[in-house]
Amino acid sequence: MRLIPIYFFVNSLVLLAADTSYFKDVRPILQKQCQGCHQPSMKSSDLDLTSFVALGQGGKHGPAFSPGKPDDSLIVKYVNGSLQPRMPLGLPALPPEQVAVIRNWIIDGAKDDTPLTTISNKPSVYIQPPVITALRFSPDGAQLAVSGNREILIHKADGSALLHRLSGKAERILSLAYSKDGNLLIAGGGTPAQFGEVQIWNPKSGEMLRSATLTTDTVFGASLSPDASKIAVGCADNTVHVLDAATGKELYKIGNHENWVLATVFGADSKRLVSASRDNAAKLIDASSGAFLENINLLRGELTSIARHPSKDLVVLGGAERYPYIYLMDRPKNMKIADDTTLVRKMERQDGAIFALDWSPDGKRIAVAGAAPDVNLYDPDTGLKLASCTGHAAGIYSAAFSPDGAKLATGGFDGKVRIYDAASCRLLTSFVPVPISAAALTAGGTQ
Ligand code: HEC
Repeated sequence: MRLIPIYFFVNSLVLLAADTSYFKDVRPILQKQCQGCHQPSMKSSDLDLTSFVALGQGGKHGPAFSPGKPDDSLIVKYVNGSLQPRMPLGLPALPPEQVAVIRNWIIDGAKDDTPLTTISNKPSVYIQPPVITALRFSPDGAQLAVSGNREILIHKADGSALLHRLSGKAERILSLAYSKDGNLLIAGGGTPAQFGEVQIWNPKSGEMLRSATLTTDTVFGASLSPDASKIAVGCADNTVHVLDAATGKELYKIGNHENWVLATVFGADSKRLVSASRDNAAKLIDASSGAFLENINLLRGELTSIARHPSKDLVVLGGAERYPYIYLMDRPKNMKIADDTTLVRKMERQDGAIFALDWSPDGKRIAVAGAAPDVNLYDPDTGLKLASCTGHAAGIYSAAFSPDGAKLATGGFDGKVRIYDAASCRLLTSFVPVPISAAALTAGGTQ
């Protein structure tokens, strides 16, 4: 038990007994000190310390705790050194007060007080426009899907009406992808430091078909294979997960990156996959087995975004280094050190890091967006700039061409969707994609 001082009125102090909390007290210690080596993608000694349930399942030597009996609990024995090797392995011992928190929680009965993450059917209420992290046109060009808080908003493509609000569990939606026939909408995201989620929707009926929860953080750069059979996502634990699009079940996991994987794209024939990471590498993978084939690029800066030519196996890559690069997905000859023979074109340096790239469906334009306020359009055949779409506040996280290549939609930090003529960059329309609560406004909310 822990005594919590509660002040009644002005000066009478009362002490209330409260159990040590798993969620508030124990979990943050495990998150900080242990999860690097004990998590779903790296279970040292078969032990996952990222949830109460996993702790109960324990590792090679059985459950990590026994309620009421701290001295019989493995987790206590390993942190106080009565079992060797002492945990955290190779790092300084936990300070006595942290060991005491774990002990006290077990003495208090080792209860699970993790709040339930329930799906609320109540639509999100907004007092100001949220940052837009993803947007995509539907393949028939009729609709535009835009990320919101815990939801995806489906708008008429010209911004004239909000058609559906697709509410899910993930707090953030970081990527969106439609199947070619428009019957599936894939969303990747999650709730930071809690879980990643891939959602599979029927965008026509607004029905969630499946949801897969994976890893302990948001997932990035979700993509769907052109044959709509597989979904790939990048993760903050340096892995790429590939799921079966029909069932949402995981097919395999690839662990050959050394930093967060932020973007994925399949080859035109759905047989190969490219993942791009903060470790500077874009890696080519066999999409049926998950086998690593080769590095595509010469390593330069952290990569955040990737897009493929609509029909050819050419990709455009970009990130911290600010240059968009076009690469061949295939390496015809064996790679030598510092070999860059698959580089097709390097385009001009942007005014800020690149966050989003899109290749127009007619193959004639590449849109480059990022930390700078302008979205630039390039001719992939010459590398020359065609136009600059202006008017944004800096920080653009998503750019998407319409299926006919005539329009470009952008969204980012300022929470506004902007739709431009993709030839001239003339602004056609702009709108806030979420309903702003009038009640919040009259209650003195922000503008
Ligand atoms: C640097 C990596 C690393 C860190 C950090 C780490 N562990 Fe471990 N842990 C291991 C390895 C490796 C083993 C297997 C050790 C052995 O048996 O030789 C292990 C084993 C264990 C076991 C035994 C599980 C079983 O059933 O076999 C427990 C319990 C444990 N760790 C708890 C913790 C706790 C609690 C923390 C944080 C305070 C922690 N570990 C931090 C790597 C780590």
